[in-house]
Amino acid sequence: MNRRDNTLYQQLSDVIKEQKKLRNPLIEILHRAQRIFGYLPLEVQSFVAEELNIPVNQVYGVVTFYNAFTMKPRGKYVINICTGTACYVKGAPRIIQMLSELLGIELGETTSDKLFTLTAVRCVGACSLAPVLVVDEESYGRIESRKQLQDIIDQYRRRV
Ligand code: FES
Repeated sequence: MNRRDNTLYQQLSDVIKEQKKLRNPLIEILHRAQRIFGYLPLEVQSFVAEELNIPVNQVYGVVTFYNAFTMKPRGKYVINICTGTACYVKGAPRIIQMLSELLGIELGETTSDKLFTLTAVRCVGACSLAPVLVVDEESYGRIESRKQLQDIIDQYRRRV
């Protein structure tokens, strides 16, 4: 299939047309592209570069510079573990270890059923609840036990 026939590329094309009118639209376009595709493979980066008439290296440079962008497919739910100072001191490394064991993946990886991706993020602004993790838009604080983590995972598994 020609990629331009694909509905996801069509959506991205519409976004680019709309954003092109603004100044420095690249970052916003990449955010929207990541929302559409779930990640930013080279094929998508090339498409953006062609549509904006800029070198693909420029797009690649931005994608690899910002942590918010990923070139690897992500799971349906991204578990963001805060590793800011307060959370780190209150046990973020232990949370990472427990989640790795419960999900069978390392930080930065995605479960084979494509349900969960594990990532570390900087302070999410809820230090009084440290240690904190965020799944989608929902925050979970004062995580202390493996049971709490298992309950959070189960809650998302039930949504599928
Ligand atoms: S350090 Fe984790 S919320 Fe601030």
